[in-house]
Amino acid sequence: MNTIAVSLPIPEPGIGILRASGEVVVRDGAEPLDEKGLIGFVSGADALVAMLTDPVTERVLESCPALRVIGCYAVGTNNVDHEAASRLGVWVTNTPGVLTDATADLTIALILAVTRRIVEGDRLVRSGGFERWSPDFMLGTSIHGKRLGLVGIGRIGSAVARRAAAFGMEICYASRSSHPEAGTHGWKRMERDELLATSHVVSIHTPLTPQTHRMIDARALSLMRRDAILINTSRGEVVDEAALAASLVEGRLAGAGLDVFEQEPRVHPSLVGLDNVVLLPHVGSATIETRAEMSRLVATDVARVLTGTTPYHPVVTPPSPRRGTERKK
Ligand code: DGY
Repeated sequence: MNTIAVSLPIPEPGIGILRASGEVVVRDGAEPLDEKGLIGFVSGADALVAMLTDPVTERVLESCPALRVIGCYAVGTNNVDHEAASRLGVWVTNTPGVLTDATADLTIALILAVTRRIVEGDRLVRSGGFERWSPDFMLGTSIHGKRLGLVGIGRIGSAVARRAAAFGMEICYASRSSHPEAGTHGWKRMERDELLATSHVVSIHTPLTPQTHRMIDARALSLMRRDAILINTSRGEVVDEAALAASLVEGRLAGAGLDVFEQEPRVHPSLVGLDNVVLLPHVGSATIETRAEMSRLVATDVARVLTGTTPYHPVVTPPSPRRGTERKK
């Protein structure tokens, strides 16, 4: 019988799908696992359903020789050592597509929250600070007619573009290749520096890789307009958070909306006191419907690998996949 380790409880239908393929062990501890804790939990298992907080390092993959598949309950798989997984014969899968709309919706929510000062206004009302309406009270900025600069235009970036166009924004993007829908929709591709220098809203939609790590650094931030805002719903490590905090504190940037942080769950202390910054606890995909679909996708692919079938959403396809051992019979 296969053993499937699930590092945090996930909603149905995933657990039911996994149970049909083996014994499912769900960890119910709230604290994220470090490398040692993960090895202890996964040791002997044939499959791991991993959270984005699990460090699936080379050492973990080497220390758990029965592991045949890492099913990531996420679209981003930067927490897994891809090279080691491939070399050691371990499949890695993810959950693309099903969280696109939820994350794009949240991106738009952050753009509006920052430009229309929604969280600041809510805090003001709750604290009794709403004394009277006046023509210049709590003015924000309009997004209609403004330029949205997307850094990365994959599934989520293009879903944000479609939504933002409905709000009357001009869509520009920086990406290695042209987006196939760009011509039809009038989305304009440009160099990243030009995008940063000319956009009123810059929104990050790249995966975290060694190339994108701290891509938005002090230099990149210094190119941005003083009246621009930065939105990040991808991975915190794409932005140099200390440099961003400095830009905001010194008034070199108008605001920011962040769903992700460099050292989650920690947040740079300077950001916490700023009214022009909206901070969310990594909830891009956090809707009941989306999480259920992620559960279905991850479990289906783990079950497929365990029964010797190619998964639907491989991120790493090992050239020589590990095989189950005799005791599985
Ligand atoms: C992902 O899937 O990568 C998201 O960050 C999860 O919310």
